[in-house]
Amino acid sequence: MTTLGLPGSGTGIDEEMLDGAWEVVSRHLPPTPLIPFPQAGFPVPVYLKYDGAQPMGTFKVRGALAALTAYGAAGKPVVTASVGNHALGMAYGSRLLSVDSTVVVPKTAAPVKIAALGRYPINLVLEGDDFDGAERHALDLGRNGMRYVSAYTDRYVIAGQSTLATEVANVLDEDFTVVVPAGGGGLLSGVALGARRAKQDVRVVGVEADACRALSTAVAAGHVVPVPMGETIADGLYGNLEPSSITPRIVRDCGSSSDTWPRSRSGGRSGSWWPVRDWWPRARPRPLWPRCATTWCPWAGRNSSTTALAGILRED
Ligand SMILES: Cc1ncc(COP(=O)(O)O)c(C=O)c1O
Repeated sequence: MTTLGLPGSGTGIDEEMLDGAWEVVSRHLPPTPLIPFPQAGFPVPVYLKYDGAQPMGTFKVRGALAALTAYGAAGKPVVTASVGNHALGMAYGSRLLSVDSTVVVPKTAAPVKIAALGRYPINLVLEGDDFDGAERHALDLGRNGMRYVSAYTDRYVIAGQSTLATEVANVLDEDFTVVVPAGGGGLLSGVALGARRAKQDVRVVGVEADACRALSTAVAAGHVVPVPMGETIADGLYGNLEPSSITPRIVRDCGSSSDTWPRSRSGGRSGSWWPVRDWWPRARPRPLWPRCATTWCPWAGRNSSTTALAGILRED
């Protein structure tokens, strides 16, 4: 195993794992479009990386394919928990790669997602009133013979999400900022790791729903702390972290819990972090543009709109 100076070293994610995830994802999924987003109103070019174009409409399929390829090779059935999008990615990947999968979804998950999951050859279990309840049940199954694949803290899932950053770095010539929505932090960790391998100077900005501060709380505390969850329309960002989650460590190593992380030419990478009040209808982050290079955002949520996103980025 080659252990390079990756953020979150000691988490078991290495360059070979990131290369492997890239190989798997680029074999099965064409790159998604990077769409100019002038509505953001920045004085720099802004793009949306449209992962709504992925099978099942979500970036989660990247991590799912990377994980299912790795665990499927070991021949063990897998189990996962998700409020929807990771479950959809796992369902799609399980059929594509013929892996025996159990997917635990909270009883409160969006009916449209439950109906979509029902069309895939998986063992679908409705358990728990929210993500935390579903996760507990899936973890129990994982302790009893199945391979648990976390939606955010699984190493292969994180490696799979890194391919988003690699795809963008492959098509942009210039330095860039990426603004990443964070729930459990798998996407943010993956993008930060992928960005670190880019030829460009990259600034990674993590954004979480103000009502769901599990990741930033863990980053600030240095360990996972259960926090109360408020309501948010961003259901994909809702939920506490597994106590052993590796994402706070990766995020901490990539950035800072303050938004004053210095831009570092020598290190080549920098990061920052702030909460937004919610994705809808209004948010109050600091304006991004004064310190931005070309900026892009992963874009996959189906319950969001480009108008709301433009407002969030501009601090309307
Ligand atoms: C659309 C969307 N964006 C962002 C996220 C956050 O991903 P993570 O939990 O890896 O931080 C999710 C998670 O489900 C999601 O569905």
